[in-house]
Parts: sequence; C-alpha cells; structure tokens
Amino acid sequence: MTTTTRRQFNRLMGATAIAAALPLSARRARAETITIKFSHVVAPDTPKGRGAEKFKELAEKYTDGQVKVEVYPNSQLYKDKEELEALQLGAVQMLAPSLAKFGPLGVRAFEAFDLPLIFPDKDALRRVTNGPIGKEMLGMLSEKGILGLAFWDNGFKIMSANSPLHIPDDFLGLKMRIQSSKVLEAQMNALGAIPQVLAFSEVYQALQTGVVDGTENPPSNMYTQKMHEVQKHATLSRHGYLGYAVIVNAKFWADLPDDIRGQLDQAMAEASDFTNGIALEENERALNAMKEAGTTEFYELTADERKQWVETLLPVHDEMSDRIGADLVKRIQKETGVA
Ligand code: LMR
Repeated sequence: MTTTTRRQFNRLMGATAIAAALPLSARRARAETITIKFSHVVAPDTPKGRGAEKFKELAEKYTDGQVKVEVYPNSQLYKDKEELEALQLGAVQMLAPSLAKFGPLGVRAFEAFDLPLIFPDKDALRRVTNGPIGKEMLGMLSEKGILGLAFWDNGFKIMSANSPLHIPDDFLGLKMRIQSSKVLEAQMNALGAIPQVLAFSEVYQALQTGVVDGTENPPSNMYTQKMHEVQKHATLSRHGYLGYAVIVNAKFWADLPDDIRGQLDQAMAEASDFTNGIALEENERALNAMKEAGTTEFYELTADERKQWVETLLPVHDEMSDRIGADLVKRIQKETGVA
C-alpha cells in the first residue's frame, strides 16, 4: 500500500468506525433533516401562536438546522378533534390543544382545569401546573401514546353574547358555544344556558349566523378570530381558565437521537417561559383593541353580581368531582385555596 492509499484507507476506516459507533437513529438523523409538524387552531398573533413560532426559532437554532419545525396555525391542517387523532397516527408530531380538549381522548382529569373559579389567579394555577399535580397529569397521557412536554398559558375567559350578561339569569335559554368538555357543559347548564360543542374554527361563523348566541374566550382568541365584530356584549367575568398542554407523539420523541432530543427540550423550556411571559400582555392588548373597535360593550361585574355568579358556579365542582376524580379535585382545591 502506498502512503497515500494507506492514508485514504485509514481515513475511510476511521469514518466507518465513528459512524458504526452511532446508533442507527442518530446516523439517520445526521443524514436527513427531521421535520416536526406543529399544528394548532388559533391565530399566529396569540400566546400559543407566538409560542409555536418561538419554539420553531429555538429548535432550529439549537439543532443547527437538523430539525425543521413547520407551524400550521388557524386549523389549516386539522380542526380540534382531528388534530389529536393526527398526532396519535403520526401525521403531525406536535400540538398544543387546550386543556379542555383531552376529555374526549379519555383523560378526564384534564377537565379539572375547566372548573369555574378554581384558580383565583395565575399564582394558584402555577402551583398546580409546576408542582407534582401538573407532572402527574402530563404523565396520564402516556397510555395514549402521547408525551406531555409543557403547560402554556392563554388566560382567563370572558363571556360574550348579543345581550348583556350581568347575572346568571341573563344566560337563560342562550345557546353558548363551548369546547368539548363535560365540565364546561355543566358550567353552562348551571347558568341556565344551552351548551353547544363546536370546533374552534367554526365559532365565528356560528356566532355570525346565529347558530349560537354567545361563547366564552380569553380576549386574545376573541379578538384574533374577530368575534367582537359579531358579539355586542362581553362581561369581564374571568370565571375560568384556558391554557394548553404542549404534546408530542411519544414514539417520535423517543426515537430522536439523544442530543437532538436534549436540544429540543431546551428549546421547549425556553419557548414555554416566553409564552407564559407574554400571555397576560397579549390578552390585555387584545382587550384594548376590542374596546377601541367599539363593536362590543365590555362590562365589569359589580360585587353583588359576582356573588351571584360564584353561588351559581361553585356547585359545579361537586357535581363534576366524580367524573374528574374526587381526590384530584380536592388536591387542586387545596393548592388553590378554592373549595
Ligand atoms: C377553543 O376552542 O376555544 C380554544 O381551545 C382554542 C385554543 O386553542 O385556544
């Protein structure tokens, strides 16, 4: 063997040895770009929409372009129910459904987040999501082939309709759109309304055509879907919370090369801090924009009216406790100080 040939031979053997030392999945990843399709149902300029974009930016940066994240907002790819099926089938890899949408999947514990008035403020919510309860709840998704990565905030909900909503009696007979949660159904029933489950992408049209009379949303969702253009009244009731669990197909995540998974975990941790840091501000911005638009009259409850809401809505906790898991409801109530 000439010196040049030996050098070439050694280089080749060295490269082969290094390649062989890498696990198959890692070698494959080195050769191909890994694509993560992140599908969601809201507008890009919402807490979730901006969070998804932040994750994309950081994931692509930390993996040096080995991972490409494609974000599909506004139900472009899938609507509410379909997106969870698509994740389980591997047609998309990442979602952030609202916590109210896990019941139909068979994980009823998540409906605890829909209990009216259960979180007096964000700190109480954080004690639950950042503590052992939050961890346990994300863990419940594993039997569905789903891995829960993080909790993302949207915000506290307001009620809207074409008639004023000051006291529970104002809801009598109104058709109110809800997400697919039995707890939200019970909440609307308690108010005397008629709950109607509709996919998020269908709400604007349903309000516009009178299929439903009203709905509940954090301001950011109401504004970015232009619902304020078709709702004359809104009450700043902040009677319930809307947030998300960021989830991935568990097999997809487990099959990632370790270093890539670590970089994505880092990107997710930072994107979560970002999202939870902007959510309040995004909702305030949306509320101000709707006030300026002048198409909806916004109303703050008086102390006496709020008392009536509390008396009407708190019994929903007991009513739904068995469905959610009585022990879990008690532990959350203990953490938040609301019983
Ligand atoms: C809704 O359906 O009202 C929300 O879950 C939409 C969302 O993802 O914020």
